[in-house]
Amino acid sequence: KGLRVADKGYLNTAVLRSEITFIDGEAGILRYRGYPIEQLALKSSHLESAYLLVYGSLPTQNQRKTFETEVMHHSVVHADAAQFFRSFRYDAHPMAILTSAFAYLGSYYSEANPSLKGQTLFTKGTPESLAIMDKQIYRLIGKATTLAAMAYRVRQGREFVIPPTGLSYTASFLYQMDYHGQTNYQPNPVLAKALDILFLLHADHELNASCTTVLQTGSSLVDPFSAIAAGCASLYGPLHGGANEAVIRMLISIESPKNVPAFLEAVKKREKVLSGFGHRVYKTSDPRSFIVRKTADEVFKITGKDELLETAMALHEAAMKDEYFIKRRLAPNVDFCGLIYRAMGFPLDFFPVLFAVPRVVGWLAHWRQMMLQEGGVKIWRPRQMYVGAGQRDYVPVEERE
Ligand code: CMC
Repeated sequence: KGLRVADKGYLNTAVLRSEITFIDGEAGILRYRGYPIEQLALKSSHLESAYLLVYGSLPTQNQRKTFETEVMHHSVVHADAAQFFRSFRYDAHPMAILTSAFAYLGSYYSEANPSLKGQTLFTKGTPESLAIMDKQIYRLIGKATTLAAMAYRVRQGREFVIPPTGLSYTASFLYQMDYHGQTNYQPNPVLAKALDILFLLHADHELNASCTTVLQTGSSLVDPFSAIAAGCASLYGPLHGGANEAVIRMLISIESPKNVPAFLEAVKKREKVLSGFGHRVYKTSDPRSFIVRKTADEVFKITGKDELLETAMALHEAAMKDEYFIKRRLAPNVDFCGLIYRAMGFPLDFFPVLFAVPRVVGWLAHWRQMMLQEGGVKIWRPRQMYVGAGQRDYVPVEERE
């Protein structure tokens, strides 16, 4: 009663007040805590921006050092996790593994478990509870790369690698992915830096589907590992984090620039989807897509150009001139970064993992903000408009027609 309009897809529903990320979809603006994404991509790092997103201000030198040390210190996972990873089928999708791994991880940390004392702990905001909350944040950000690298290596039948010391967040990740037993192995610093920029770009994007899922799940006061696992599941879908994988599959299927016009015709007839285009919020341009293009140039200098690049450019050019896409205000989104991941040698189905790992930061920033909001947490329980049958009487199975 009283509900007259169902807001399908939450097109016009604001569920909270937030101080974390600002997006102006018309002007193509993205800011983390007020700082333009372009400045952060140029001058900051993924972990420094993670601190900014989670705690609200850029860290001092000491705060930055402590945060980075804590995160890297917590990158090691319990040795038993190897057994868990080995229980997956050889061809399991790495997002299925990663999603499960986040939930699995929660079983190790009873202090974050709601059935013990986590239930009200995180909403208290006392120094003791904030310190426990920080620890879960370090754990989740620190272990995300380790879990991702394990999901990669288990499918290849390779031994797991203990996170190295003294490397940056993304260099450590690349090390864990690549290490073959070489002495003094160091990942290429240009590639590690490029990945760091891509991680920073993916760290948060306010209330997208996965972040909303984390908050929806977290609103029951479940532990943050379970809430992050839920967000990871949401991100797995092809309309969200699965899109960067879909972009490459689409480009492979188009094969060459000469097939672009026919492909776009099929999109207009709704037989195909133009992955990597369109956004719920950005209606002119996605500011991240320009930084992705610059980063791609740096990476291609090392790796060589991806053979799909020409098709991607032809597609981009043709779509931007086409009335169908102009009218619907569809522009490239961040998902063309799949070309960089491909050039760096990541397998196709690993691309959503490269979105989920940095997005753990944004999920945690929003989760922390919700836990500490004034007046406590209110469980997210939307209403529906019931349009089903009225009351009817049960008919025994033998009497049904
Ligand atoms: N190709 C062709 N037509 C499209 C596309 C597309 N990629 N995106 C939207 N449209 C059309 C859509 O059919 C609709 O047309 P009409 O009004 O004639 O029915 C119109 O444009 C409006 O689109 P919408 O589906 O109402 O927009 P939405 O805000 O509900 O969906 C979206 C946003 C991102 C799901 C959608 O644009 C899409 O499916 N894009 C392709 C998948 C993709 O790249 N996803 C990654 C998004 S960015 C990273 C992330 O946040 O995960």
